[in-house]
Amino acid sequence: MRAVVMENYGGPEVLEVKDIQEPELQRAHRRIEVTRAGVNFADLHVRDNSYLAGVPLPYVPGNEVAGRLDGERVVALTRGGGYAEVAQARRLTTFSIPDDIDDDTALALTLQGQSAWHLLKTVLRLQSTDTVIVPAAAGGLGSLAVQLAKRTGARVVAMAGTEEKRSLALSLGADVAVDSTSATLASDLKDAAGGGANAALEMTGGETLHATMEALAPLGRMAVYGGVSGVETLVSTRDLMSMGKSIQGFWLPLLYGQRNALNEAMEDLFSAVRSSEIQVPSVTVYPLSAAARAHEDLAARRTTGKVALDPSC
Ligand SMILES: NC(=O)c1ccc[n+]([C@@H]2O[C@H](COP(=O)([O-])OP(=O)(O)OC[C@H]3O[C@@H](n4cnc5c(N)ncnc54)[C@H](OP(=O)(O)O)[C@@H]3O)[C@@H](O)[C@H]2O)c1
Repeated sequence: MRAVVMENYGGPEVLEVKDIQEPELQRAHRRIEVTRAGVNFADLHVRDNSYLAGVPLPYVPGNEVAGRLDGERVVALTRGGGYAEVAQARRLTTFSIPDDIDDDTALALTLQGQSAWHLLKTVLRLQSTDTVIVPAAAGGLGSLAVQLAKRTGARVVAMAGTEEKRSLALSLGADVAVDSTSATLASDLKDAAGGGANAALEMTGGETLHATMEALAPLGRMAVYGGVSGVETLVSTRDLMSMGKSIQGFWLPLLYGQRNALNEAMEDLFSAVRSSEIQVPSVTVYPLSAAARAHEDLAARRTTGKVALDPSC
């Protein structure tokens, strides 16, 4: 089968398409013929060996696929192996795609949608009275988080790096959009939140984490789920205590053994798309052979919405 194989850790150039033997099916896994492989920011961390969980080499990246399981249309969360014509996933993390939802939409809801859903509902426990800060609001996870937060009735302060992305975030329902590259980010966010937000998503680290923390009102809560800046960030417990602020981490794979939690989110996401309460703003599909370009575009902040690979070309 054709697959993207990493022989080394490093830049996008380590992603090479090769013809490899289809791996033996692991215990409790099912074989999926892949129609789309999801590209997620975590794949960049895996590639340069800065991810939360290390991977052995050679390695086929990709933690999310849409495809066919014995002819049935499915999406699945995988632990690697997604950038290929054939992948394998546990039944626990495989979901049937409803007839009225296309593969690309289902794919966008699977890793980024599930993460956005659990961040807002399970971690932040967002309420209609909250004002929440959503970073990379035109991105894969962020574009869904904006809409899911609005669906709860909360006020949404979106952050994005360009005017075009901020317009997209506003069109998805954000109440106000702030430039994430601003030199005065903390006060911009605070003003946009009407004095301070009650809740915030944080996926950048470094200065952005500190600015977001500063923009939280007393007793505000923050969910940390990424570190795109690559900066390991220390937070003062003294500051947390004096303002009663809290931080909780989140990593979706911690839920991979909890079928009910995954199912509840997936069903609700499908139903929200069906009722047009949320939409997947865009899915940009690259050929499998252009996986390196997809990674370059994601790292350079050139993408919006979902990024995916087509294993047939
Ligand atoms: N913990 C989990 O379980 C989990 C699950 C899914 C995703 N995540 C995390 O969620 C975040 C978003 O993931 P995604 O796949 O949906 O990606 P994405 O948001 O589609 O793309 C990343 C976006 O991050 C913003 N960004 C800010 N600073 C950046 C920098 N220094 N380099 C590159 N991008 C930067 C850019 O948007 P602007 O230009 O608008 O700022 C960029 O478009 C990532 O941190 C990812 O690791 C975590």
